[in-house]
Amino acid sequence: MAEIGKDIKKAASLLSSGKLVAIPTETVYGLAGNALDEGAVLDIFKTKQRPSFDPLIIHLRDIDQVRAYVDAIPEELEQLAQKFWPGPLTLLLPKKDMISDLVTSGLDTVGVRVPRHPLTRKLLHRLDFPLAAPSANPFGYISPTSAQHVQDQLGGQVPYILDGGACDIGLESTIVGMEQGQVVIYRLGGTSVQDIESVVGKVLILPQSSSNPKSPGMLKSHYAPRKPLLLGHLDELIESHRQKGIVFAVLSFQRSFPEQPSELQYALSPEGDYDEAARNLFSAMRALDSSNAEIILAEELPEIHLGKAINDRLRRASAR
Ligand code: TXA
Ligand code: MG
Repeated sequence: MAEIGKDIKKAASLLSSGKLVAIPTETVYGLAGNALDEGAVLDIFKTKQRPSFDPLIIHLRDIDQVRAYVDAIPEELEQLAQKFWPGPLTLLLPKKDMISDLVTSGLDTVGVRVPRHPLTRKLLHRLDFPLAAPSANPFGYISPTSAQHVQDQLGGQVPYILDGGACDIGLESTIVGMEQGQVVIYRLGGTSVQDIESVVGKVLILPQSSSNPKSPGMLKSHYAPRKPLLLGHLDELIESHRQKGIVFAVLSFQRSFPEQPSELQYALSPEGDYDEAARNLFSAMRALDSSNAEIILAEELPEIHLGKAINDRLRRASAR
């Protein structure tokens, strides 16, 4: 099992010698390696069992460090960076040659992000290279929002997990790029569409095109628990499964269900707070996935604030 701790010096020295370290970010935990070290990058793909066509995001300490690795930042994306970095926003920018094709899966853009978590910010300040870091989960499974989540799945494969507590946002970063002068969102995430549009005006949302995914966060079945998850009208789903005598778990936005055992239900935010719901989503999915239920019944949230991104994850989790 991996050692879990808060030792930034140790994390920095492992990373500098080409090893991987799981790191906390405000969105989800990342499986980090030196983005300029092809051995470390290959190790990330191997550890996650991630297909090589799925590019990695690199993490940097600030926008000035970003400029060293990309050719240009279009004005609209610069405005977004100024507004939301450090934070849950990834920009797709034309890469410089020093970023290897392994990182970008051969694409000429690289995903870059300046994370907000204080421990990881301190870590980045100690390093003279960017960190490539996908979410620290096996490919296709629910992303980790605590050090223990990482330990549960990848603990045997990483030497060290930097423990930054539970993630603040709980959803991956929003991925934004440009096509033909138009701002495009490729993955809904921790920065809401509303917030992005308040800076750059109307954007194109393209997260669903799944046949040739530009971003495998776009793959239909992703972020998925092992148990089947059904999305729909909760009362009807509950009634029909109860009639069939199936043991089910319920994942709701706000409501609790007096007839349901407490370990077989999870209300994401009893008060109806979207940020709280996002923060709880992946833990809730993990908890219900390890319950004795045969199936998880879930409902969509209203499509506002982070509700849109939460629904996106629920839909992908329900796709088989
Ligand atoms: O919040 C986050 O973004 C977390 C934390 C750790 O930073 N990271 C994360 O990485 O979610 P990952 O690898 O699990 O998801 C990154 C997504 C993938 O779906 C990948 O295909 C897409 O970003 N991506 C990365 N670079 C890209 C590029 N150049 N063009 C298109 N999509 C890209
Ligand atoms: Mg991921």
